[in-house]
Amino acid sequence: MREKMGTLRRTHMCGNLRPSHIGEEVVLMGWVQRERNLGSLIFLDLRDTTGICQIVFDSTVSEEIFKKAEKVRSEYVLAVKGLVRKRESINKDIPTGEVEVLAGELKILDQAETPPIYIKDDDNVSEDMRLKYRYLDLRKPSMQNNLKMRHRAAKVVRDFLDENNFIEVETPMLTKTTPEGARDYLVPSRVNPGHFYALPQSPQLMKQLLMVAGMDRYYQIVKCFRDEDLRANRQPEFTQIDIEMSFVDVEDVLEINEKMLYRLFKELKGIEIELPIKRMTYKEAMERFGVDKPDLRFGFELVDITEVVKNSKFKVFSGTVEAGGQVRGINVKGYGDKFSRKDISNLEDYVKTFGAKGLAWIKISEEGITSPIAKFLSEEEINGILEKMEAEKGDLLLFVADKLKVVYDSLGNLRNEVARRLDIIDNSKLELVWITEFPLFEYDEDEGRYVAKHHPFTHPVDEDIELLDTEPEKVRAKAYDIVINGDEIGGGSIRINNPELQERMFKALGFSKEEAWDKFGFLLEAFKYGTPPHGGIAYGFDRLVMLLTGSFNIRDVIAFPKTQSATCLLTGAPSKVDENQLKEVHIKLDLEN
Ligand code: AMO
Ligand code: AMP
Repeated sequence: MREKMGTLRRTHMCGNLRPSHIGEEVVLMGWVQRERNLGSLIFLDLRDTTGICQIVFDSTVSEEIFKKAEKVRSEYVLAVKGLVRKRESINKDIPTGEVEVLAGELKILDQAETPPIYIKDDDNVSEDMRLKYRYLDLRKPSMQNNLKMRHRAAKVVRDFLDENNFIEVETPMLTKTTPEGARDYLVPSRVNPGHFYALPQSPQLMKQLLMVAGMDRYYQIVKCFRDEDLRANRQPEFTQIDIEMSFVDVEDVLEINEKMLYRLFKELKGIEIELPIKRMTYKEAMERFGVDKPDLRFGFELVDITEVVKNSKFKVFSGTVEAGGQVRGINVKGYGDKFSRKDISNLEDYVKTFGAKGLAWIKISEEGITSPIAKFLSEEEINGILEKMEAEKGDLLLFVADKLKVVYDSLGNLRNEVARRLDIIDNSKLELVWITEFPLFEYDEDEGRYVAKHHPFTHPVDEDIELLDTEPEKVRAKAYDIVINGDEIGGGSIRINNPELQERMFKALGFSKEEAWDKFGFLLEAFKYGTPPHGGIAYGFDRLVMLLTGSFNIRDVIAFPKTQSATCLLTGAPSKVDENQLKEVHIKLDLEN
């Protein structure tokens, strides 16, 4: 049975009815959450985007409507007209729990088959099923709330940037490769055989051109595409809040962004973040936390014990130091008794995934010291280590000896892993920090050359420019990331606006002039005609919404996300195309390779 709405018009939303509506006649429309038939009374929970309201069908009021209501099942779409009245048994769990609607008219607007997933938040159905039936999954209040938060965050950002004279400008999706370091998604051109567009990894070059164009302050909430290995907080297409400003240096960019972040958390979470936001240089972040996106919600900072053990009889330590490596550790303060030998052996396997060769440890308990390495260390060395690491009874010390990069990588990640395993991270806390002065270059072992850590248009720190040709690894960049609770939420830089400096930069990167012009000629050409000093930032909007909604999975804040293998379970994309379509774009498949 399917009926038309006819003359019925919705007067109220289900979730909005309150005792003040008692006595009013209302028309509600929505989906049936559940139904209970008590013989002469039927109770239905009707759901729309605002919430749930109880509807009562009474056989003594209308036999005909009651009969119709008996046919109703979960997820049927209904229109109900009726009188709001006080509920006999109040439900304190829902905002409409003091009232109900006594139905006087019922239209079944659509029927529904039994849905393959339950429409309720605590249903532990597999994520694949949720993604396949996303339109049902999105009916859940938690998912609706996430999308609403996403909308509100976009609105706060737009309002704030508009008030500060930023103009939203759209940039092309069919474009040329952009320098963000991931693989491009390519689109073949039908009318230009053998040529391809790249989908933008970010609007980086276009926003810089907009500064040359005199737009002064640009922003865009924009889709970006990156064909890279997916992780929990990465998607192949994701959204950035992309910002660029003219006539600015680092301080100006950070200042306006702090105000925007303040506004976001204040308006959407009622939280007043402390301004100015903490700053930490890249160097300090690596020294103290081993990673460039430290989670400041807990301790366990890295401690350097290289000096203490450099002459030790324990060759794992002294040999590493001799070979130019380092020995550092973390003190898992107060949680020593939470880790058995087996747990520590698990942690050792964990650090090995970051290239560490082992994990040395010392536990300090009532009985004294337990450690597989103590027998190799002198008393002086042990005391030196305990002192450096401020160790006390109840602590567990974990060490890695290796090249500095491996030490940072393994201990930095171990620090997070230990906190996760201990379940001591306070999710109600918000720790924001700017990481500044990133290195301009990073050495790419595979390519045997320096590559830009951010991108090739990033401006060096002024006093380091003289090191560009001689000691590029020492040059710091005017680049910054905003890190919140250990996640890189955004990053940006001041850009080079001086052709000679740009050329030195390309040279340091090992690009010939021809190569640089071939790749970025249109930008370099534009820079000839009067370029303001400029810089900007881009936020991972999805990651920001994860923070605002307390989600742990990026897919929970995106309406139609992709799986870890970059597929869409709902539409079946990517899919095969027919021969003709391929022919039109001049493509022959070679699936052997
Ligand atoms: P960057 O490459 O650091 O900078 O990207 C900015 C922010 O975008 C988010 N992000 C992602 N989010 C989800 N899935 C992904 N695959 C993904 N990749 C990146 C991160 C990151 O901090 N054009 C420069 C910005 C600039 O210099 O102004 C850029 O794109 O949160
Ligand atoms: P071994 O002498 O190799 O059996 O190692 C003794 C202890 O040192 C074990 O607990 C190893 O996990 C640890 N270990 C080995 N190599 C390293 C290393 N590079 N850094 C830290 N600990 C290590």
